[in-house]
Amino acid sequence: MSGEVDKSKRRLLGVAAGAMGGVGAAGVAIPFIASMSPSARAQAAGAPVEVDISKMEPGQRLTVEWRGKPVWILRRTPEMLAALPTLAGELRDPNSEEEQQPDYAKNPLRSVIPEYLVLVGICTHLGCSPGFRPEFAPADLGPGWKGGFFCPCHGSRFDLAGRVYKGVPAPLNLEVPPHRYLGKLPDTKDRIIIGTDPENA
Ligand code: FES
Repeated sequence: MSGEVDKSKRRLLGVAAGAMGGVGAAGVAIPFIASMSPSARAQAAGAPVEVDISKMEPGQRLTVEWRGKPVWILRRTPEMLAALPTLAGELRDPNSEEEQQPDYAKNPLRSVIPEYLVLVGICTHLGCSPGFRPEFAPADLGPGWKGGFFCPCHGSRFDLAGRVYKGVPAPLNLEVPPHRYLGKLPDTKDRIIIGTDPENA
């Protein structure tokens, strides 16, 4: 399955609203699921999702759905990566000590390949879907903002590794889901599977 390029926050919120609607409607969803194809049924039940990332531009984010949740894939630019170490003092869990990621993403960049970040796009406060705010120092987020995710519900802030800032309502970093790249690292980066671990993990 291939992902779709996000064009706007509204679209992302639409995905999140769909995810939450799926949870709320679970009790009446059986006839709908029964009418799905076998592969669609497997995916709704939590099967891994394969995503083509070969055409992603630096700075671009894709959103796909896995287990009814929005999952973001971000291709970080060199500038984005360079900013991350400068933020450690402002973050609640800069080294990912809390169990919010698989062991292979337990590092400050929270990724297998530095360039690519994979996150579940659901705020760890009360479950809203934060907006993607990759720009540096926008007027509404202040001069210290070096790109990240901003949750409009109660103002939680996360950096471009999904690490939560101190002093906001969200208690934990955004979750990194299990994922692996198809092919031999580090050369092959054209497909990613969400929902399954690397063979050597
Ligand atoms: S749900 Fe994100 S800040 Fe409350």
